[in-house]
Amino acid sequence: MNKKIFSGVQPTGNLHLGNYLGAIKNFVELNKDENNNCVFCVVDLHAITVKQDPKELRDNIRETVATFVACGINPEKSIIFNQSAVPAHSEAAWILSCVARMGWLNRMTQFKEKAGKDKEKASIGLYSYPVLMAADILLYDATHVPVGEDQKQHLELCRDIAQKFNNDYSVEDFLKVPDPLIQKEFSRIMSLKDGTKKMSKSELSDLSRINLTDSEDLIVNKIKKAKTDPLPLPSDSKELETRPEAKNLLGIYSSLNNFTLDQTINEFSGKNFSEFKEKLSQVLVEKINPVANEIKKLNKENEYLDKILLDGQKKANEYASNKLKKIHEIVGFL
Ligand code: AMP
Ligand code: TRP
Repeated sequence: MNKKIFSGVQPTGNLHLGNYLGAIKNFVELNKDENNNCVFCVVDLHAITVKQDPKELRDNIRETVATFVACGINPEKSIIFNQSAVPAHSEAAWILSCVARMGWLNRMTQFKEKAGKDKEKASIGLYSYPVLMAADILLYDATHVPVGEDQKQHLELCRDIAQKFNNDYSVEDFLKVPDPLIQKEFSRIMSLKDGTKKMSKSELSDLSRINLTDSEDLIVNKIKKAKTDPLPLPSDSKELETRPEAKNLLGIYSSLNNFTLDQTINEFSGKNFSEFKEKLSQVLVEKINPVANEIKKLNKENEYLDKILLDGQKKANEYASNKLKKIHEIVGFL
């Protein structure tokens, strides 16, 4: 079966190793398969659910495209566009927000985390964010959505919305219920400073993450300073359950090399962190350096990046506005 792949990344700067190993690496693999139709969206409407500086946002939209290309996504073989350039996303999100239930959204853990203690002050957009995400996916009849673990709940909501819409309007199978594609291992890369917290763009300390634009020196330094524990590396994966930092670093090494966790454990069992960290830095530099150089090069080529977005927008707009037209008919708009 041909797969229709859709995924989105927020243009909020500092794309990091978590984004790469959790999502973008998978995009690249899926994009290589000629049987897949891939759509990758720079979700700028999602980005403004929290405050953004307009100039930085513009730069970050282009840098996200640069990162996709630098990581190996082929713009000739996929559609790359920014969400705000295709108005159907906002319109479909409104219609779907009349299908989604408050009770469903109230369960979203990401909103609770991002809104923090003072929920009254969070934007309405932050709350209804997953409905817009559902619109993104459903407008393209996506069959598969590659994301990191943190997006699993949002995808379940998307499935619920699709099913309820189809039921409410008696249009069986009109909105396609998508499957998440979440990697079995290493789908959640943790902070280098705290193995219980997700590696994140918004974490204040830059030492907590490896950015895809980091220089060799920075990478080596961040790995040197990464939190560990005093024990030697374990001989069996059970021991890692109580050692989140060791688990995370071994996971990163495995994922970069396409090894299983057990293979990596075998390689380093009984060794100390300093030896392991040297090897980890080496492989990180090997993988990230070419990407960082390419991003820096592409960042100077605005015309090229804008052309990718424009080409993508045309194709995306055609597909999405067609689907939206059908939604209008089903709902009963004239
Ligand atoms: P975002 O930057 O929040 O738009 O995320 C883009 C993609 O990266 C999504 O598929 C996320 O699930 C994934 N992602 C973000 N942070 C991590 C992380 N620490 N580990 C694994 N995947 C991640
Ligand atoms: N919410 C996703 C994130 O923060 C980004 C996103 C928006 C997305 N729309 C999407 C991911 C559609 C997959 C499909 O990571």
